[in-house]
Amino acid sequence: MAIHKVGVVGCGLMGSGIAQVSAQAGFPTVVREVSSELVDKGLKGIEKNLSRLVEKGSLTEAAKNEIRGRLTGVTSISELKDCDVVIEAIIEQLPAKRELFTELDKLCPPHTIFASNTSSLTITEIAAATKRPQRFVGLHFFNPVPIMKLVEVVRTIATDPAVYEEMIAFGAKLGKTPVHANDSGGFIVNRLLVPYLLDAIRALEEGVGSVVDIDNSMKLGCGYPMGPFTLLDFVGLDTTYYIAQIMFDEFKEKRFAAPPLLKRMVLAGWHGKKSGRGFYDYSDPANPKPMSL
Ligand SMILES: NC(=O)c1ccc[n+]([C@@H]2O[C@H](COP(=O)([O-])OP(=O)(O)OC[C@H]3O[C@@H](n4cnc5c(N)ncnc54)[C@H](O)[C@@H]3O)[C@@H](O)[C@H]2O)c1
Repeated sequence: MAIHKVGVVGCGLMGSGIAQVSAQAGFPTVVREVSSELVDKGLKGIEKNLSRLVEKGSLTEAAKNEIRGRLTGVTSISELKDCDVVIEAIIEQLPAKRELFTELDKLCPPHTIFASNTSSLTITEIAAATKRPQRFVGLHFFNPVPIMKLVEVVRTIATDPAVYEEMIAFGAKLGKTPVHANDSGGFIVNRLLVPYLLDAIRALEEGVGSVVDIDNSMKLGCGYPMGPFTLLDFVGLDTTYYIAQIMFDEFKEKRFAAPPLLKRMVLAGWHGKKSGRGFYDYSDPANPKPMSL
C-alpha cells in the first residue's frame, strides 16, 4: 500500500514534531488540534524550527516553503478522513485515546493504518476501541522529534505482519531508525527510563542531593547528555505523572509508582519547560534556575 497522505492528531510537543518530520519527508500532512489557537501555536513552533534550519544553512528558503505547503492545520476531525496513516499524539489518558480512535474508525476508510505515540499504554487496549486491530501499531517517537533518531515500532498479537513491515519502512522514510518492540507497557525505552526518572525524584525527596547536584552527577559521572530533572522538565511532568500511573497500574511494581512530589508539582500546574516551571524555573529560558521545592 502506498502512503499518500498522513494525519496527525494533537499538535503539542510530540504531534508538532511528528507533523514536521512527516512534511519534511514529503508527505502531505494534516494535523488536528482541539482549537484554532492550539493549531496556530503548534504550526508556529514548526515554522520556528524550519526557520532555524534555514539560518543554519541546512535548508533553503524554497524547501522550507515547500515543507510548510505540505502542512495543513485543522480543528475538525473529518479532515482526516482521506489519510492513509493517522498518528495519534494526544494526552496520555486511555479514555481520550479510545474515544478518538472510535471516531476515527468510523471516519477513515478500511485501508487506513492507525498508530499511537503513547508512552506507556498498551497498543492493544487502545486498538480495542476500533474494528481494525490488525491495522494498528505503536509509533513511539522521542522528544524533540525532528532531532531524536529513534522510533519504536510496536506490534500487538493482532497486528498484520504486512502492516507492521510497512510501518517499519514508513519510520525509515521519516528519517528515523526503527526498532522492533512488542506491546508491553512502556515498550523498551520507557521500561528502562521511567524508573530511573522516578528514582531521581525519590532521591531528591529523601535529601540525597539537590536538583542541580543530582543532574550534574548523572551528566558528569555517567556521561548522560542531560540530568534527570532537566529531562523530566523537557518530557513534561504531567505526561510523566500519567505515564507512571499507567505503568504502575500495569505492573504493580513500586519502581513505577509516582512519587508524591511529582503529584504535587502537577497539581500546582508546574508541568516543566512547556509551562515555564518544573524542577527549574524557565523565566529566563537561556538560564534555568532550580526551584526551591
Ligand atoms: N513528551 C514526551 O517526551 C513524549 C515522548 C514520547 C511520547 N509521548 C506521548 O505523546 C503523547 C502526547 O504527548 P505531548 O508531550 O505531545 O503532550 P502535550 O501536552 O504537549 O500535547 C498534547 C496535545 O494534544 C491535544 N489534544 C488533546 N485531545 C485532543 C484531540 N482529541 N484531538 C486533537 N488534539 C488533542 C492537546 O490540546 C495538546 O495540545 C502522549 O501520549 C505522550 O505520552 C510524549
